[in-house]
Amino acid sequence: MTPLQATNDQSSTPAAPESLHIAVIGAGKAGTAIARSLLESGYRVSLSASGNPARLELMIDFVTPGAEPKWTHDAVADADIVVLALPLHRLKTIDPALLAGRVVIDTMNYWPPVDGEIPAFAAGDRPSSEVVQEMFPGAAVVKTFSHTGYHHLEPDRRPAGHPERRGLAVAGEDSAAVALVSALVDRIGYDPVPVDSLAGTAFLQPGGPAFGARLTAAELRELAGATAPVA
Ligand SMILES: NC(=O)c1ccc[n+]([C@@H]2O[C@H](COP(=O)([O-])OP(=O)(O)OC[C@H]3O[C@@H](n4cnc5c(N)ncnc54)[C@H](OP(=O)(O)O)[C@@H]3O)[C@@H](O)[C@H]2O)c1
Repeated sequence: MTPLQATNDQSSTPAAPESLHIAVIGAGKAGTAIARSLLESGYRVSLSASGNPARLELMIDFVTPGAEPKWTHDAVADADIVVLALPLHRLKTIDPALLAGRVVIDTMNYWPPVDGEIPAFAAGDRPSSEVVQEMFPGAAVVKTFSHTGYHHLEPDRRPAGHPERRGLAVAGEDSAAVALVSALVDRIGYDPVPVDSLAGTAFLQPGGPAFGARLTAAELRELAGATAPVA
């Protein structure tokens, strides 16, 4: 059974978005922008940060109304999809067992001024999401959202077919998980550009040509095809 099939009966018929629960771990700039986009698209969303969810209540009332504040372990236990939107240097605080069997969206970038020196990421010989997948072997890690700025995520949302619609890469090893996350990306207002491996995601990272570039799907596809996995 793939991690996707282990989630709430999504193996045959795609669930209606309102019945999908997305747990967003990290309630900062990226996490709240993603949470709002999901809420506006009809998903059920919970938000957690590093401490007591009671501390998030006031912020949520103003910033992401409709999201449910939760402890991380409670949010994940009840979720169909988990979004990791915390700084990479904090990832080691998440128990791999918690994410086993889950579809996990990796929005994170390695950013030394914030993250410090983390040898596994600083080595630069593999894209960061490959390292994240290795840290969470039981999860189906899907990289998306990472190459757009939080401040562009919401203003750039467009309905399907709109001439100014932009693309978001959706990369992972588990094709069913990539398909599930692609449907989510489409629903929130972007053309998903599936990439069938995490090894080929260096072009999305800081310093890569897609990072912060606000590209169309066609432009992203060209970069995805042109970019070989990091040697
Ligand atoms: N900013 C962007 O434009 C952008 C765009 C794409 C991707 N990203 C990626 O998104 C991630 C977050 O960036 P950000 O700019 O949103 O950072 P941020 O504004 O500093 O927010 C970080 C959030 O993570 C939470 N957090 C920290 N440790 C945690 C833990 N152990 N468990 C649960 N939550 C935890 C923090 O909660 P506490 O305050 O309670 O510690 C805070 O809510 C980074 O990996 C970044 O590379 C950012």
